[in-house]
Amino acid sequence: MYQLKQSLMPINPVFNPKGNDNTGNRLIWFGETTNLMQLNDVRYSWAVSLYRQMRENFWIPEKIDITQDIVDYVNLTREERRAFDGILSYLTFLDSVQTCNVPHLKNSVTAPEIALCMAEQISQEAMHNQSYQYVIETVIPNDRRTQLYEFWRSDLILKERCEFIAGLYQKYVDNPTPENYFVSLLADYLLESIYFYNGFIFFYNLSSRMLMSGIADVFKMINRDELSHVRLYQKLIPEAMKIFPHSREQIYEMFACAVQYECKWTSHIVGDNILGITTKSTEQYTKYLANIRLQAIGLEPLFTESVYKKSPYVHLERLSDTKKEAHTKANFFEASVTSYVMSSSIEGWDDF
Ligand SMILES: [Fe+2]
Ligand SMILES: [Fe+2]
Repeated sequence: MYQLKQSLMPINPVFNPKGNDNTGNRLIWFGETTNLMQLNDVRYSWAVSLYRQMRENFWIPEKIDITQDIVDYVNLTREERRAFDGILSYLTFLDSVQTCNVPHLKNSVTAPEIALCMAEQISQEAMHNQSYQYVIETVIPNDRRTQLYEFWRSDLILKERCEFIAGLYQKYVDNPTPENYFVSLLADYLLESIYFYNGFIFFYNLSSRMLMSGIADVFKMINRDELSHVRLYQKLIPEAMKIFPHSREQIYEMFACAVQYECKWTSHIVGDNILGITTKSTEQYTKYLANIRLQAIGLEPLFTESVYKKSPYVHLERLSDTKKEAHTKANFFEASVTSYVMSSSIEGWDDF
């Protein structure tokens, strides 16, 4: 690990004529970028491939037909409707904080090819919020829409959840040390790679029962985008671990805490009241996810019992295959991002 000289993270100047963009000189953080988007001769070629893939994933929410979902929503059980509203509210929170926070992380990134991916990520997170609005406007009656956005005001478990997630990000904004930058980066990975998925599973579960299938299609597209963000942070965090002050114990503690909060929230909003999901399957799935996310950044699984080595929702993960083949080559969450590339005519995908 480098001995960092900086006590605060340097923020990139708008233009730095004294910089040097040579690939040999290029670093993800603490480089001397001119801030010119010099993409001709990149150091991190995986980032260019990932960016192309993110662009290839382009989609428009309104092109997905969700009119049948209006009828389905009315026919949901009371518990299903409460979970539907709560999860939608929570996911809106997640994409809102991502849209706000990723620019703070990006401001100190000195490799333009990686800044490029983060700029695309920010755009996608903002668009995800717009897709939630499309869903809300279509199925939620007018007089309840604001209430859905403000669910956290009346639901204390959600409020606590939101404050915990935002708090880790805010800590860096208030005190931009390298230590806090690492925490913010890891918190981003936890959000991208763990916090969305019990929500996605809820929608795929309804869809497997022929309910809200249009909206499940919207979530498949969001899911695909989120997986490209997961890949980005899976590349960044091992690099950050070489540079930023941190400890292994700290990473494991953050994962353990993330699992605890995620299980508490999902048990509160879904619990044992929805056919196909139980508090036990939620716990199994969340711990399984934490394990594979740790392994993806080169660390050991945290939950060693054999039950946490497999997903309880393999049947639902298959549904999330946007190619509609329903027999993805590997487990959805382990498959490489190339599984979702729609065109093979663009070069540079092979890195994934
Ligand atoms: Fe998102
Ligand atoms: Fe994301």
